[in-house]
Amino acid sequence: MPIANAFLPADQFDRESRFELAPAFCSACCMLQLVEQPSPEAMFHDHYMFFTRTSRRMVEHFTGYAEWLAEKWFDHPDPFVVEIGSNDGALLETFARRNIHHLGVEPSANTTEVARRHGVQTLTAFFNEPTAARIRAEHGPADAIVAANVMCHIPDLNEVGRAAAHLLAPHGVLVFEDPYLGDMIAKGSYDQLYDEHVYIFSAHSVAAAFGRHDFELVDLLPQETHGGSMRYVLARKGARRAAAAVTSILARERSAGLDRPETFEAFRIRCERQRDELVSLLGRLKSEGKRVVGYAATSKSTTVLNYSGIGPDLIEFITDTTADKQGLYSPGVHIPIVPAERFSAPYPDYAVLFAWNHQAEIFAKEREYVARGGKWVLFVPEISVVG
Ligand code: TMP
Repeated sequence: MPIANAFLPADQFDRESRFELAPAFCSACCMLQLVEQPSPEAMFHDHYMFFTRTSRRMVEHFTGYAEWLAEKWFDHPDPFVVEIGSNDGALLETFARRNIHHLGVEPSANTTEVARRHGVQTLTAFFNEPTAARIRAEHGPADAIVAANVMCHIPDLNEVGRAAAHLLAPHGVLVFEDPYLGDMIAKGSYDQLYDEHVYIFSAHSVAAAFGRHDFELVDLLPQETHGGSMRYVLARKGARRAAAAVTSILARERSAGLDRPETFEAFRIRCERQRDELVSLLGRLKSEGKRVVGYAATSKSTTVLNYSGIGPDLIEFITDTTADKQGLYSPGVHIPIVPAERFSAPYPDYAVLFAWNHQAEIFAKEREYVARGGKWVLFVPEISVVG
């Protein structure tokens, strides 16, 4: 598998790096994780191509996340909040606007520049023990350490656990949300598996991973973002009372088999079936002379396309709103990425919706496509064609 976000020009096809994308489940700590992990520097660098602000819905989501944090978890008048992997500052901007003491920690230099332009204090660095020590020395302990779609990217969770334990105030909270294992298993959304998602967490695995650093779960809040996520709230053991959701969600995970290896074997069989059905559908459309394009060059699409071996012979191009991706080719299978405006010039017969997690937003803005007879190809939770 290539790096999911490594969109590339044609003259670099022969230098593309690949790794073995193999998820494994640990029965002892219930963690689903990638066995091989490309180095973080290969993924999060000066040209990182994901900007949170490209999705209006995600910006709204992060504003809501910040407001919820301030209302529910800040229990003194001058709180200090640190965000791990603050990207372009979409979450912290709410705090910046309210003059709340905040600091983003983000390794990709291009996204930190955007954050600073929006008034968000940002340190260009990886969140680790030296960074945590430096922040504590300069700003004091943090009342909240937050993250969104970042914790699952960090191979060395123990280092994060130690760094958070050092930086957090005694009653502080460590809050993060990431794509949720329960949703991935329920929906068959295997495209959540790519290099950046080293872990697909569950309440069981988070409790085990952070329990080692003297944290415990005090609340769990399911989220609709990224095709189904979970927000985990952790505090130092004994510091805060756990909400009822913790017990009920842990029980629900046991009934869904998220603590047992057989569940993942059944999942593998389902993925193989989904892959075969998608390839045969696209092959049939091609033989019928239909024009098929991809909609949104998501990181997740790299997994689907490479796992299924779908290239430019089956998908003419993929449209995407991110200027940095346009003019490049998709990793591994080399489908051209074109500006979003190409979608309607003229409309294709079929569009594979790779950003299925933004389906509501995209269907709302592409009504005209469907009105003119265009069809969406969906592959989550099952392969289907909708008009
Ligand atoms: P991600 O799923 O890897 O986070 O990336 C989302 C990609 O989808 C990003 O490159 C922008 C693109 N996109 C579109 O092209 N059109 C859209 O309407 C939306 C919501 C996203």
